[in-house]
Amino acid sequence: MSSTMLKEPKMTQDRSIDPAWMPTIEPAPEPASAEPSVDAAASVPALLVEHVTKRFNVSRKREPVIAIADVSLRVERGGTIGILGANGSGKSTLIRLVSGLLTLDEGRVEVFGLDIERDEMAVKRLINRVSVDAAFFKKLSPMENLLFAARLYGIDSKFARLETVRITERLGIAEKRLSRPVEQMSRGMQQKIAIARALLTSPTLLLLDEPTTGLDPRSKLDVQAFIEEIRGSHDASIVLTTHDLDEAERLCDEIVVLNDGRIVAQGSPEELKRLVAERHGEEPTMHNVFMTYTGRSLDEDVEEDESDDE
Ligand SMILES: Nc1ncnc2c1ncn2[C@@H]1O[C@H](COP(=O)(O)OP(=O)(O)O)[C@@H](O)[C@H]1O
Ligand SMILES: [Mg+2]
Repeated sequence: MSSTMLKEPKMTQDRSIDPAWMPTIEPAPEPASAEPSVDAAASVPALLVEHVTKRFNVSRKREPVIAIADVSLRVERGGTIGILGANGSGKSTLIRLVSGLLTLDEGRVEVFGLDIERDEMAVKRLINRVSVDAAFFKKLSPMENLLFAARLYGIDSKFARLETVRITERLGIAEKRLSRPVEQMSRGMQQKIAIARALLTSPTLLLLDEPTTGLDPRSKLDVQAFIEEIRGSHDASIVLTTHDLDEAERLCDEIVVLNDGRIVAQGSPEELKRLVAERHGEEPTMHNVFMTYTGRSLDEDVEEDESDDE
């Protein structure tokens, strides 16, 4: 990380700004010198979640929804954890709790050893959340978008420009694509740019909430390969939610299966498959892991709640 002075990135002023983009990144923090000394303790996990519970009060008449119930997990630096679960199982809630978008009802979360409530600003600099609809200034180029993000993060713009070229090149995005308006790019490519943007800060905890849901098959494979590349280079520690079992198996060192906000299974893909084979006599596949621990097939997503909502 550069410790040089903040400079203004070269941004064109007159182009339209998509306000939806703003909430995803915090306003300019102090320059990088205030960065915590994360290198000092290599054994500190990238993410520590301890006994976290989150309830939502939906209406006065009804009991609160327990979206996350006593969840604990740990992601080592450079590790990739997959959160697997049907719709409504609590995946996004967990991601939003970790990224500080929701407050915890119970429990504790640490990011690179920093408490997310006590050290909120420092933590925000280490976390990057990429959700299904990554928000950009659509009329600006990826380079302009990334320089803008760098500025919000207090990263020197010259350094950010070099980093952008380095990161995107290594991830297989041609430099010439960096200067075209984002709106002219495919959704798969936009998703890659969003992830590349998240890699500008370092070290980083990358929170990917269903990064491939809704992409066409080709873009999906591209984005998966892209995540694999990041994972291989250990540039980031990754939390990935998905309801794609193959994706989880391919991309994650460890998998947590959520069902109604609770962890019902946890381990490496190999461990989980071995368990269902040994204990339940099932074929060792991720599908059977999921069926065994959640009692449902991924095809039957949890929609039944909606019928009695009104
Ligand atoms: N803001 C909210 N207010 C009320 N209930 C919510 C809210 N966000 C999520 N929930 C409920 O919490 C549960 C988990 O939702 P979510 O985390 O979005 O699941 P997933 O991402 O796995 O589909 C669901 O029952 C959902 O209806
Ligand atoms: Mg979700």
